[in-house]
Amino acid sequence: MPTPTLGLIGSGMIGGTLARLAVTAGLDVVLANSRDPHTLAGLVTELGGRARADTPAAAAEAGDLVVAAIPLKAYGRLPADVLAGKTVIDTTNYYPERDGHIGALDGDELTSSELVQRHLPGAHVVKAFNNLGFHQLFTLARPVGTSDRTALPIAGDDANAKQQATELLDVLGYDTVDIGTLADSWRSGPNTALYGFPYLGRPPTGLDADELQHWAAQSPGVPVSARRVKELAEAAVRGPAGASYS
Ligand SMILES: NC(=O)c1ccc[n+]([C@@H]2O[C@H](COP(=O)([O-])OP(=O)(O)OC[C@H]3O[C@@H](n4cnc5c(N)ncnc54)[C@H](OP(=O)(O)O)[C@@H]3O)[C@@H](O)[C@H]2O)c1
Repeated sequence: MPTPTLGLIGSGMIGGTLARLAVTAGLDVVLANSRDPHTLAGLVTELGGRARADTPAAAAEAGDLVVAAIPLKAYGRLPADVLAGKTVIDTTNYYPERDGHIGALDGDELTSSELVQRHLPGAHVVKAFNNLGFHQLFTLARPVGTSDRTALPIAGDDANAKQQATELLDVLGYDTVDIGTLADSWRSGPNTALYGFPYLGRPPTGLDADELQHWAAQSPGVPVSARRVKELAEAAVRGPAGASYS
């Protein structure tokens, strides 16, 4: 069987981290960003022979699975035609300060992943990797069977796509908890108890906001069990849509 290929549309903090985990796991990766693929030469060199850079459409075409790791404001530029029939893992979160206000999200009419799915009618979107920081995404990955393996939530409308996502998470170092449909995906989003903090652990006392941010960016994180993810998702209360940097 040929080596599976992960297409990454967006190769920044989250896309780059997923690429590192993927090549370590023996997958091939095709990276893309919003600019000329040559701008990813440094990352490709660091990742080694399993990685190459190309355009978003070419990354989408090459991927057995494709990850959208872009700011939400760019969702309309995902190549819908090429992604038809594919499973697309959506890592996005809604940050109005960065993405601009999106009425359907502000009014809780849609989740961010439903918005992405509407733009990709032929694809099968699965929300994943959105609820922990990129540094913890790297440090908490563990091989299958490890006692302190962390679980991540996924949400989606297509059972086969969720199965594919589960297999990807397993290969990259994570257990999976299915928290429902794309309409349910707010349960792992900003302003919920499952967003960020469980994976960070308890910060040292007495930090101001800047120090807390610095600590969060560097914390190796704490493992979170599947049981805990399930409890937090089930108990989630829908707060205001959208995260804030402050
Ligand atoms: N950072 C985290 O810890 C974290 C955790 C969970 C979820 N997320 C979410 O994941 C998404 C990505 O976050 P990030 O922190 O990885 O962002 P980032 O570091 O700013 O990287 C964004 C990437 O997306 C690319 N991009 C932007 N517009 C594009 C387009 N139209 N076509 C192709 N690529 C495009 C950028 O390319 P250029 O550099 O060429 O512009 C860059 O490679 C966001 O929605 C974020 O909210 C982030």
